Amino acid sequence: MNRAPAYKLLTDRLIVRCYEPRDAHDVHQVVTRNKGHLVPFMGWALREPTTFDERVDLLRSFRGRFDLGDDFFYGIFLRDGTFIGGTGLHPHCGPAGIEIGYWIDERHQGKGLVTEAAAALAKHALTDLALSRVEIHCAPDNVGSNRVAEKLGFTREGLLRKRHQYAHDRPLRDLVFWTLFREDMGRASLVNWARYQAYDAIDRPIT
Ligand SMILES: CC(C)(COP(=O)(O)OP(=O)(O)OC[C@H]1O[C@@H](n2cnc3c(N)ncnc32)[C@H](O)[C@@H]1OP(=O)(O)O)[C@@H](O)C(=O)NCCC(=O)NCCS
Repeated sequence: MNRAPAYKLLTDRLIVRCYEPRDAHDVHQVVTRNKGHLVPFMGWALREPTTFDERVDLLRSFRGRFDLGDDFFYGIFLRDGTFIGGTGLHPHCGPAGIEIGYWIDERHQGKGLVTEAAAALAKHALTDLALSRVEIHCAPDNVGSNRVAEKLGFTREGLLRKRHQYAHDRPLRDLVFWTLFREDMGRASLVNWARYQAYDAIDRPIT
């Protein structure tokens, strides 16, 4: 990646931004309340609830890894600042590619908010960051997540068997891989129409 990902993206309804340790109170409350909602598809949720101090440390590590250019975890906030979920750009799927992950507070599901956040991140990755490929990986029975990828215009590449390390003490799970290549973005992809403004680490607009 030649360019650092945005620290903040503003979409019509959302602020998608790099976590700060001071988000710990809101993140702790929302994640703890959503354990049952997240456990079926997010391996990390099995370890919830963490202590509050562990949450602060986790957000410090997210922020540190973001600043170092290792991995890019974002909080999803309504435009009034309410924390409602998490997403990320994860550069662990080969050269010129990046994976988008996401989850949302159960209370805010079904309003198209994850689709809006993921559309902005995907377009940012394929245009501003000039990456060639964005991926979404989801469990075959995760109807909502597969639908997000489909709505965005990603192509279902296939099902990879026993691919997902859901938790160290559990059997490997299958994963559906969805991909959007830069050259395919223009063709009927919702990503193509995503509207956002991106900002760097010191809040300068990225054009
Ligand atoms: C999957 C998830 C991220 C979707 O977030 P969201 O903000 O509700 O997503 P959107 O509203 O943008 O779109 C969801 C789509 O899936 C559909 N959907 C969701 N659950 C569904 C279900 N059980 N059956 C059929 N359709 C379903 C919605 O109707 C919507 O499609 P539509 O716009 O065509 O009606 C959210 O449900 C979640 O956080 N789940 C738990 C964590 C998780 O699974 N993360 C992804 C791991 S890969």
